[in-house]
Amino acid sequence: MGRRGEGSFEWSAYRTVLGDRDQKKNNRKNNQKNKMAKIHYIEHNGTEHTIDVESGMTVMEGAIKNSIPGIDADCGGACACATCHVYVAEAWTEKVGPAESMEEDMLDFAFDVRENSRLSCQIKVTDELDGLVVDLPEKQF
Ligand code: FES
Repeated sequence: MGRRGEGSFEWSAYRTVLGDRDQKKNNRKNNQKNKMAKIHYIEHNGTEHTIDVESGMTVMEGAIKNSIPGIDADCGGACACATCHVYVAEAWTEKVGPAESMEEDMLDFAFDVRENSRLSCQIKVTDELDGLVVDLPEKQF
């Protein structure tokens, strides 16, 4: 009798713990989903577009979703075309971080590559990148 009571109690406590965990997980998901970072896209001619991009998207996706001219993204973000090439503003290069080797290889196909060149499909938007400035090259090829 006593054992059964204990068992039931533990089970309900376990379910409560699971419920709390799921709730916290959902809250984290929703918080992450709703967070936005302002990204400044500056066309080669100087025209600036400031866009709120959802955290978790890439800088390329933010541009495509908002029809920013100058980013083609022919491969859809697979790091296989180099038509999403951008220049990360000097003040942001450290926060954005360096390109990984596959991106480095693909950048060889981009037009007018510089020290601060990146493929925007490989830059994931986070809270830390709120205010990021990227300059767009004269052309993608
Ligand atoms: S979209 Fe093709 S490499 Fe970025």
